[in-house]
Amino acid sequence: MPDYETFVFTTDLTDAQRVRERCDVLGAISEEPDRLTRRFATPAMRAANAAVAGWMRDVGMVVRQDGIGNLIGRYEAREAGAKTLLLGSHLDTVRDAGKYDGPLGVLVALALVERLHARGPRLPFALEVAAFADEEGLRYHTSYLGSRALTGAFDPRDLSREDEDGVAMAEAIRAFGGDPAAIDRERRDPGAMLAYCEVHIEQGPVLEQRGLPVGVVSVIMGQGRCDVAFVGQAGHAGTVPMDLRHDALCAAAEFTLAVEGLARREAGLVATVGQLAVGPGASNVIPGRATLSLDVRHLDDAARQEACLFLHNAAVDIGARRGVSVEWRLVQESATVSCSPALGAALSRAIEALGYAALSLPSGAGHDAVVMSTLAPVAMLFVRCKGGVSHNPAEAVIMEDVAVALDVMDTFLANLVDSYNLV
Ligand code: GLV
Ligand code: MN
Ligand code: MN
Repeated sequence: MPDYETFVFTTDLTDAQRVRERCDVLGAISEEPDRLTRRFATPAMRAANAAVAGWMRDVGMVVRQDGIGNLIGRYEAREAGAKTLLLGSHLDTVRDAGKYDGPLGVLVALALVERLHARGPRLPFALEVAAFADEEGLRYHTSYLGSRALTGAFDPRDLSREDEDGVAMAEAIRAFGGDPAAIDRERRDPGAMLAYCEVHIEQGPVLEQRGLPVGVVSVIMGQGRCDVAFVGQAGHAGTVPMDLRHDALCAAAEFTLAVEGLARREAGLVATVGQLAVGPGASNVIPGRATLSLDVRHLDDAARQEACLFLHNAAVDIGARRGVSVEWRLVQESATVSCSPALGAALSRAIEALGYAALSLPSGAGHDAVVMSTLAPVAMLFVRCKGGVSHNPAEAVIMEDVAVALDVMDTFLANLVDSYNLV
């Protein structure tokens, strides 16, 4: 019997409902009582990993937490030595997050394994579900720590970075049960990888506008992140005349508006100052130091780099005019990445087989697939989200769309099995 016949497609909502219930469970695991915040290598991450590990074991997966804290469940192939198809996404979140960005991809992957397990026969390739430990970069300002470990792109210099409480990354990894000295051992052999596929909420409005439940990602936009500090002079709010001040916050504010101005002028550019800290921080003290985060994105890498250079020069000019010095540090940079055209076409065929139009769209958000693309061909399926809202507790998906995503991935897997058997 061909493998394809072992797949049964369903419009049943039971699996989708379980995925959403599990998103609710993970959504309640937070570092903060009233909002969802789950940073890399924290007790909340440990609890999330424990919940997902339990669900993985229930469906016959062999589970391990790797040296950096990724949770990996493996569902063996029917024969040893077969390649591995990696599915997954991340379990860390931004601050005051929604509950689907990341976990949806992990839990849809898990539901697919659950279906396979219920059907019985193993596939000719192994399936792994990766729940990455850090994609957002909230704790150490450098994202993709989890997937970087798998591709060998983890930079050991990052181990000395400190979080806002002064905890070094190496220390956080050790406390989480990992081994900072052994992260390089997580590096995977590209020859053993079949592909990496990630399901993710769209985080934008396109699918909703088109009336489509899912879409296929064509490219993932490149991004650069910088930490910028304006250093002026703290002083008395009542005694220092306005023309003698070196107010670091005013410099940072002027720079922030310059960021917005440039991004509004340049087509295709998006740029954001998302974090701002002011010191010493008292109502009657002129700010002596203002540090901010800068996030710059464009599909065209050269245009993005040009924008970063322009903004660097703008910061220096603003500082010079105000007698405020500027410290500028590039924290990370990733180029625009293309998803595999062949896998994208296979996803499109799966969507069309279920009776939907297959729309291909770029991703403005970064994803673990960016890093994984250096290891294996990557594919991403986007799921419509309400109002295109994300990085916000109002993130929402409907059950029917999750069910379509599951059925699309099921069909895609079936087709992958057929083509694998032909090779
Ligand atoms: C990930 O969420 C990103 O910031 O692109
Ligand atoms: Mn995100
Ligand atoms: Mn994400």
